[in-house]
Amino acid sequence: DFEVLLAGTGRVVPVARGHSVVQALAAAGVVVPLSCGQGVCGTCQTRVLAGAPEHKDVFLTSAEREHGGFMPCVSRARGARLILDL
Ligand code: FES
Repeated sequence: DFEVLLAGTGRVVPVARGHSVVQALAAAGVVVPLSCGQGVCGTCQTRVLAGAPEHKDVFLTSAEREHGGFMPCVSRARGARLILDL
């Protein structure tokens, strides 16, 4: 129900309701390292460059979130699009 734009390639990947950002990226052939899949371990961490994230992890501190930290195994977007540092 939102999309992510990958800053490195300009690709736009739709993220359907019920799918994680990591799952959507994998379906598009973009592999993000994954371990816990539950927002706990930190393995999948990337950065949001623009857009309003909806954080659902328990890994990042609020300071890390303010600096763009984003855990795509569980976190989502509040708006229509996030631009990720991928
Ligand atoms: Fe563990 Fe995302 S894979 S926090």
